Amino acid sequence: MSRRPISTSPTPGPQGDSERPPKRPRIDHLTPDSFRNGIFLAPMVRSGALPTRLMALKHGATLVWGPEMVDKAILHAEREIDPVTGVISYNGKTRAMFTTHPLEKPYLIYQIGSADPELAVQAAKTVMQDVSGVDLNCGCPKPFSTHAGMGAALLTNPDLLCGILEALRRELPREISVSAKIRLLPTQEETKKLVERIAKTGVNAITVHCRTRNMRPRERALVERLREIVEFVQGLGLDVAIIQNGDCTGREDAKRIRDLTGADSVMIATAAESNPSCFSATPLRDVESTLSPSYMRLCKYLDNHWASTKFCVTQFKGTRLEVSKTDAHELKSRIAKAKGYENLEDIVGSWTGEEEFDEISRIVEARPPRVSADAEQEEVAEEEDIPPPCATPPDRPNPEPPTSGAPKMGLRMPMPAILTGSNMVSPTPTPGGMR
Ligand SMILES: Cc1cc2nc3c(=O)[nH]c(=O)nc-3n(C[C@H](O)[C@H](O)[C@H](O)COP(=O)(O)O)c2cc1C
Repeated sequence: MSRRPISTSPTPGPQGDSERPPKRPRIDHLTPDSFRNGIFLAPMVRSGALPTRLMALKHGATLVWGPEMVDKAILHAEREIDPVTGVISYNGKTRAMFTTHPLEKPYLIYQIGSADPELAVQAAKTVMQDVSGVDLNCGCPKPFSTHAGMGAALLTNPDLLCGILEALRRELPREISVSAKIRLLPTQEETKKLVERIAKTGVNAITVHCRTRNMRPRERALVERLREIVEFVQGLGLDVAIIQNGDCTGREDAKRIRDLTGADSVMIATAAESNPSCFSATPLRDVESTLSPSYMRLCKYLDNHWASTKFCVTQFKGTRLEVSKTDAHELKSRIAKAKGYENLEDIVGSWTGEEEFDEISRIVEARPPRVSADAEQEEVAEEEDIPPPCATPPDRPNPEPPTSGAPKMGLRMPMPAILTGSNMVSPTPTPGGMR
């Protein structure tokens, strides 16, 4: 098996402090802080396949959501591990329903479509050994989802929506995060009421797709409506992150959206479907000569189903610099006509794809370890040679009376990017993270 074992030891410090015990306790599971200062790959049926998620992680996505899976679909799947690549497949009768890899587990959220608390819990338990969190889809407006009471139908059935989230939180181990993805309701009051109920179920994060159920994907997202909702949630004093979703084009744009909305993080779908390197500060532009060949090599190595590879590659679209429109068109039509990986050597090269995977492994494994929020506070204070925020210096009376509005420890304090993981190691690192 060529895959190197994923390191679980803390990164040693620069000056031989590898001999000292680690100062910051590493935590391997997601907390509400893991959903802050981030830029996330949205759940996307068909387009959010394993190779796309790995590419997104390579280029700086903080967390990645898998495509929605209806609860029942996974229940009888057979889990199989490829001994060469490490790919884990949940196989149905005729095809793999869901594939993942241990490399993405610390960053992977599994999305469930459900209208039944018990089935949702069973589905989550089926996959929980391979994911870090589960998310409930409460936003899909398509009839196949809503006619069964799932997706956007849950927006008008808050008792069921919250019942599912409560069941997930109650029945799953604490290490598995629970979150929900909703759409805006027609009015701010209705949206706030729903968000408050969801926040009280114990979820770590709520993604708000800033379109209403009846809006078409081409209609502009109502991003300006989110600030009031973010401030409302902050006022509740619950430790729940709010993730903006809708019309974000990439890393730079995510900063603008966070400034505009106050959201903790931003989630990208369509722009990432066109270019999974959009999470980088310098996204690949000539995707036809850069991203597409490397994506196909990766897919070949992972034994990704050709139909899925073809579908995803033919969605790629960059802001071309050197590749002409004619060349880009020609490449796409060749891929669209191809029956498999075999006849594309002149585009893909003769590599096995293993190098591609190894490079992604190196980049992803080099991410700083997650640490607990309280430990982060102490660490920062130590580095800046000041006492931790809530400790009074021994020679002075406490300058901050408890009612002065001093920041709450471990809740909504902005964390340094290096610790929250927003400044991901990528081929194109962004100084200072995304904001
Ligand atoms: C191809 C595609 C598939 C999608 N599949 C899902 C899905 O499985 N679950 C979900 O909650 N939303 C799904 N969505 C919606 C997106 O996650 C996102 O909410 C929406 O596209 C708005 O984000 P955007 O403006 O960045 O595209 C999908 C969107 C696209 C384009």
